[in-house]
Amino acid sequence: MTKETKWMSQSFWKKIAIWTTSVMLLILMALTFDTVKQITEGSERVPSYSVINNKIFYEFDKDRDILAPSIGGPAPLFGQKLSESDAEELINLGKLTIQAKNCMNCHTILGNGAYYAPDLTKAWLDKGWGSESVRETLMLNFLIDPEKNARSFGTNRKMPNLNITESEAKGVVAYLKWMSSIDTNGFPAHFESIKQVKEEK
Ligand code: HEC
Repeated sequence: MTKETKWMSQSFWKKIAIWTTSVMLLILMALTFDTVKQITEGSERVPSYSVINNKIFYEFDKDRDILAPSIGGPAPLFGQKLSESDAEELINLGKLTIQAKNCMNCHTILGNGAYYAPDLTKAWLDKGWGSESVRETLMLNFLIDPEKNARSFGTNRKMPNLNITESEAKGVVAYLKWMSSIDTNGFPAHFESIKQVKEEK
């Protein structure tokens, strides 16, 4: 009969299995908490909702070799500075509209959705809006009636009219502006930004 060594004992391997599973579980829990912290608004990469009161632009980040969003001085959306809770309410209306109208059937938002139409993650900064001074109005009109107010975003496709009311469209614009401020590590890549007007220092 062979002598039973530690490596052959069942209880030894059972203990190893329990230890490994427990350690992995702890790591998974820590990573989950860390992820939730990183994707919550008001964190380093996801600005709080009242960021829509400010100018959002792109800056080249040399260390990471990507274009990253940067937050500038006051530039209230639709000329109205909103409190954090009012901004959250408006952005929530936009989010619900985007869900109700199923925009992700054609578009991608933060990595989810389709590529029939342009990625909306940085739509606020898309050069298709022409210039920063007319962007808000053009976006609003486009969302309310994309057929009549069609612009060129380089797809050769047309967005259908989705019967969005003016207040819903304002919510969507607020949502898109807020989303553009999220640091997505350069995603989507090869994005062409609207011409950015330098701020007075
Ligand atoms: C049936 C497909 C379809 C659906 C659904 C759809 N869109 Fe579009 N959308 C398009 C297409 C196609 C374009 C590009 C038009 C062009 O290239 O001129 C577009 C363009 C846009 C743009 C401009 C793109 C940019 O880069 O700035 C925005 C903003 C937009 N859509 C928002 C929305 C929102 C918000 C919803 C949901 C409420 C929505 N779309 C639903 C097809 C769709």
